[in-house]
Amino acid sequence: MTAGELNRISMKVEPPGPKAKEILERDKKYMATTNKVMPIVAKRGQGMYVEDVDGNVYLDFQSGIAVNNTGHCHPKVVEAVRKQVGELIHFPGILLSQNLEGEVAKKLNEITPGDFEKKVYFMCSGAGAIDSAIKVARWATGRPREIAFMGAFHGKSIGALSLTASKNAYRKGFMPEMPGVVHVPYAYCYRCPYKMEYPECDVYCAKVIDEMYLEKFIPPEEVASIFVEPIQGEGGYIVPPKAWHKEVKKICEKYGILFVADEVQSGFGRTGKWFAIENFDVVPDIMVIAKGIASGMPMSACLFNEKYDIKQPGAHATTFGGNPVTCAAALATIEAMKEEKMLENATKQGEYMIGRLNEMKQKYEIVGDVRGIGLMTAIEIVKNKKSKEPDMVTRNKICMDAMKRGLLVLFCGASSIRIIPALNVTRAQIDTGLELLEKEIQENCNA
Ligand SMILES: Cc1ncc(COP(=O)(O)O)c(C=O)c1O
Repeated sequence: MTAGELNRISMKVEPPGPKAKEILERDKKYMATTNKVMPIVAKRGQGMYVEDVDGNVYLDFQSGIAVNNTGHCHPKVVEAVRKQVGELIHFPGILLSQNLEGEVAKKLNEITPGDFEKKVYFMCSGAGAIDSAIKVARWATGRPREIAFMGAFHGKSIGALSLTASKNAYRKGFMPEMPGVVHVPYAYCYRCPYKMEYPECDVYCAKVIDEMYLEKFIPPEEVASIFVEPIQGEGGYIVPPKAWHKEVKKICEKYGILFVADEVQSGFGRTGKWFAIENFDVVPDIMVIAKGIASGMPMSACLFNEKYDIKQPGAHATTFGGNPVTCAAALATIEAMKEEKMLENATKQGEYMIGRLNEMKQKYEIVGDVRGIGLMTAIEIVKNKKSKEPDMVTRNKICMDAMKRGLLVLFCGASSIRIIPALNVTRAQIDTGLELLEKEIQENCNA
């Protein structure tokens, strides 16, 4: 395909096509092993669509794992990056200053929850910003330990990995982890770890943190922070009850523990609010932001109440953090999201999407659960509704077959499918995507 507009699915050859195969072979030889789940070699992206090297055009409901929240190559972001590249590509914020870093930090102050001044470290990855949050909390409290949740994903650097607990494959072979972390069960109501029912449970899974863990074997005065994904992402797009978040925050306040909201995946408009934690009326002490912040340019941020600032020059920062080009992309991202009312659209289209997915849940025995807020949505595929046994094989087949038909959706959790288009998706594009998805579900339900 020549460089025309990408505006509809067009499958020319079953992926991987001949060009993709060649590239994948080369990559296998030279690239370190990662976990490439689909044989797609992308060439270009535009809005909701991606074209591969063999000319197939896909409708992208993966958004680069919740990164391309403004769609692929949003014109405003492209223009800002082009302009900045011609002016100043790098100037090390770790030692010197340029004008854009502080501007992004100021904007983040405005759009994040909390009626107080906040300070920011800019990093280049979610994991880097998580490590920053660990250090800020330890410094601010003088305490050496963290609490995190089963099923959590916070990244793969040794610090972040020590908080991650979503797959053995991430951890196997890398011990010892950072000492001091204890994991407790998350509020996964569809598969309650305590076999209780909400709301009768009275969020026992939060209260038990205080009544059992902090009481019996994690002295609270040693705990610097609790790391919380407002909606667990990699773990399966699990949405806790509002009361759970409020209870966790209450426990933090009781003991002077800092509440860290990991908004890497759930933030930047994904749920229809700037940050997912706003849906739960909790104000975090520290926030970790990445993925969607700069529409795909590598930027992340650890943002915290200014009173926790590490007032020790040199203690923390990174060479590329706050890079001018990524800053320009972040400013353009925020502007585009405001101008085009993408948060409002995420809420509106998300409600529609969840409605449609719930209809599928009624119709198909293998759709066990539908979860999400805004456009952070997922379904869980099970053997049947009664046993709720996760069906990873069918889940994988649905995703792979959807890809062959030109729809990109992504795995998460034991047997869930995340459906996360960009925040400027249209009703018609959702309909197209969900029709394709339903066809796969239907075929696999009867299989
Ligand atoms: C919630 C969450 N935290 C942290 C990370 C780590 O981000 P990165 O892959 O940029 O290091 C991810 C990545 O998927 C994530 O979803």
